[in-house]
Amino acid sequence: MNRNTLDEVAERFNTDKVSNLHDFLRFYHRRLSHLRDEKFVLYEVGVLNGGSVKTWEAYFPNATIVGIDIDPRCTEFEGGNIHIRIGDASRVDFMFDLVTEFGRPTVFVEDGSHRWDHQISTLQTMFPLVVPGGFYIMEDIDTSFQEHLEKAPFEGLSTISAVDYLFKLARVVIGERALKDEKPYDLFINDWAPWVGSVDLGRRTSVISKKLAPGGGPI
Ligand SMILES: C[S@@+](CC[C@H](N)C(=O)[O-])C[C@H]1O[C@@H](n2cnc3c(N)ncnc32)[C@H](O)[C@@H]1O
Repeated sequence: MNRNTLDEVAERFNTDKVSNLHDFLRFYHRRLSHLRDEKFVLYEVGVLNGGSVKTWEAYFPNATIVGIDIDPRCTEFEGGNIHIRIGDASRVDFMFDLVTEFGRPTVFVEDGSHRWDHQISTLQTMFPLVVPGGFYIMEDIDTSFQEHLEKAPFEGLSTISAVDYLFKLARVVIGERALKDEKPYDLFINDWAPWVGSVDLGRRTSVISKKLAPGGGPI
């Protein structure tokens, strides 16, 4: 059966992830298409005009889609397999309550404030909860660079950029035992790098896959 790609599905909806804008979806299709008919939970931080949650719903017809936004107007996109919850994704208690309500994510997409501190802390909070074999996506990581910083204080409270943090995580994933006595950057990387199958870096976005088991187990 010839089915539309994720990028083709998104053409019907209003999201900047499509190939003539950010071009994230061709990158994701190659990593997520095996989940297409699976029953699982996908969370996305950042609903805005509803274009991406509608795309996920159309592409993953058996998945539960949970859209999170601070803007109460986003509740208008609730319906079908799409659930919308209003709150600040940088609040750990709020995010944990969502996982209690809907279950652990197989796919978690972070497309919210694009602040470094939020990008890093949401990864630290949510990657441990991603089901083994699942994926954590951190978008718009180009806010780690100069052009964006001239427009807004994307650093937030962080002294390390999201891209440099992903490099530090990737360093431990790649180096593994060869790093010998080199200490990982922080406790999250120390504890969770063994669960990371890959840190895939694309144009302005990244997909971190979670292994089925830590250490040398299958990815
Ligand atoms: C880039 S837009 C999302 C675009 C959407 N995912 C798409 O592809 O069509 C970012 C959204 O994140 C929301 N947002 C910003 N900071 C947030 C936070 N701390 N928690 C939850 N949502 C946030 C904004 O209100 C905005 O609607």
